Amino acid sequence: MKAIQYKDYGSSVVIELVEVSIPSIQSENDVLIQVKAAGVNPIDMKIRMGFMKETRPVEMPFIPGGEAAGIIVAVGAGVSKFKIGDEVIALTRKNAYAQYVTANENFVLLKPKSLSFEEAASIIVTLGTAQSVLFTEGKLEKGQKVLIQGGAGAVGGAMVQMAKAAGAYVIATASGNGVALAKSLGADEVIDYKLQDVTNIAKDVDLVADTAGGDTQRKLFQILKPGGKLLSIATPPSQELAGQYSVNAYFVASDISSKTLQNGIELIETGKFQTIVSKIFKLEEAAVAQDFLTAGGVNGKVILLVE
Ligand SMILES: NC(=O)c1ccc[n+]([C@@H]2O[C@H](COP(=O)([O-])OP(=O)(O)OC[C@H]3O[C@@H](n4cnc5c(N)ncnc54)[C@H](OP(=O)(O)O)[C@@H]3O)[C@@H](O)[C@H]2O)c1
Repeated sequence: MKAIQYKDYGSSVVIELVEVSIPSIQSENDVLIQVKAAGVNPIDMKIRMGFMKETRPVEMPFIPGGEAAGIIVAVGAGVSKFKIGDEVIALTRKNAYAQYVTANENFVLLKPKSLSFEEAASIIVTLGTAQSVLFTEGKLEKGQKVLIQGGAGAVGGAMVQMAKAAGAYVIATASGNGVALAKSLGADEVIDYKLQDVTNIAKDVDLVADTAGGDTQRKLFQILKPGGKLLSIATPPSQELAGQYSVNAYFVASDISSKTLQNGIELIETGKFQTIVSKIFKLEEAAVAQDFLTAGGVNGKVILLVE
């Protein structure tokens, strides 16, 4: 099969298109999926650059790709939820930039029928992460005010829609074309973070959901209510500032499973959530796709089409 692989950490020049064997089912709860589309995520580049050697070490040669949509072509002896021919989405954690990938059935769901494979490959990390931040950790409730930093990004765009569907008052930050996108996704207010100072506009926020991290995260403490929460999926927040502003602040690692994806999938099935695919590249163009996402200004998800 065709796969994208690299043998050393580095820039996108390490990426190669190779011919390798189709993976075989290793565990009785695994399914083998013929991949139709794979999601490109910022973590793919963090791993490739070697930034996650401590927390996510990988064995070389490495096939990237944490999420896929495709068709089940084989099932392990213990698989009870799926059969050959099922159209599915899966959290694979690695190996999805390829024509075939295996996944544990507990991290596989039937593809929502209304979505194409490209759209379906965009929802696994985004819906699961948004659910983890807003509801599992953030305990966001109807009527509360949430600020979503990066509200036109892949995860941020999902957060805007899910927070709005839950009845929250949603403020999003974005830039360029992302301002109109965040507004169209339902944000009540959108702050152009390149032109406006968020601290002059947003006040008394119950929850900050930060997808950008870095220095700009530090400003977000002052817009929270005392007792509010700052949750980041990008960089761990300052505990000193959390103490100073009497808020809770911590990094959230997403919990992506059939359970955490359920709310988002229900929203899709009832027409209350729109997938946001920014650009589709061919598998062979994986290096260009990764560089496109790294360059920023991408509104929504980058997808690899696998043929
Ligand atoms: N912890 C977890 O479990 C988990 C799960 C998923 C993702 N992540 C991480 O979360 C981050 C976002 O992922 P993603 O897939 O949503 O990436 P993405 O699609 O690239 O979105 C990032 C967003 O951040 C915005 N942004 C960048 N700098 C900003 C700033 N200074 N102020 C406000 N917004 C800013 C970008 O807007 P512009 O385009 O306008 O710059 C963009 O909309 C990545 O670091 C990723 O690795 C973590």
